[in-house]
Amino acid sequence: MAVYSIEDETGLAKELQPSVMPLAEATKVIDFPSDARGKRTLDIGAGQSACTARLRIQGAEAYAIDPRYTDMAKLDEETSRAIEIARSRLSLHRGAAIGKRYYKLMQAARQAFKRDYRAHNRFYINAFAGDLPFDSNSFDFVFSINCITHGLDVDDVIFRRAIQEAYRVAKVRSEIQIYPFLLKSNERIRKYHERLLQEESLEYSVEAVPEFNSNRLRIRKHQQ
Ligand SMILES: C[S@@+](CC[C@H](N)C(=O)[O-])C[C@H]1O[C@@H](n2cnc3c(N)ncnc32)[C@H](O)[C@@H]1O
Repeated sequence: MAVYSIEDETGLAKELQPSVMPLAEATKVIDFPSDARGKRTLDIGAGQSACTARLRIQGAEAYAIDPRYTDMAKLDEETSRAIEIARSRLSLHRGAAIGKRYYKLMQAARQAFKRDYRAHNRFYINAFAGDLPFDSNSFDFVFSINCITHGLDVDDVIFRRAIQEAYRVAKVRSEIQIYPFLLKSNERIRKYHERLLQEESLEYSVEAVPEFNSNRLRIRKHQQ
């Protein structure tokens, strides 16, 4: 059986390009705590997402990890390129006005990220999903958007390790949410994800996010 190695995850991380989801979308794909005050939260593979900034405004002790935090200037450059591409694609398929609107929302998320990063950079940590630099049972809410099941899952061992790490750092009686999950169009991926989760004996549910024709995964931690 293949064994997890940080070198393999480093190689894979290079292929998973940054992008940024507008905040209004992120709050639909993840069911955030209604009261974040005093909660310790973790966003895995956050890139320039605004979620951590928003959680902090709501009173959380909010952390984000991403291996690209090692070089913020490069992350910024790569994200700029990615959102230009997203804008062109959207404009081509759905019209220039929609492309422009979405581009503005992505830029707004980045601005919120940058403000929060400037003021609270110790909460943005350079790390990999498979090797979280946090104590076990230390977060009230752990989530990941377009990372664990949107890139890391091409490698069975790295995917499993990322899930194990998210589970390890979550407190007992807390939850982990991951988006997207079980893309309706792909039965093979659905079976593959579910098999791995069942092998880990995790208690999970899959919830529809109809607006995006996809689902989120919710894992409940009942024991250590
Ligand atoms: C598609 S972006 C998603 C960013 C953000 N979550 C959002 O949805 O707005 C994927 C992010 O995952 C990060 N990433 C890649 N490999 C990773 C790994 N092994 N562990 C944690 N994050 C990783 C990338 O650097 C990138 O910022």
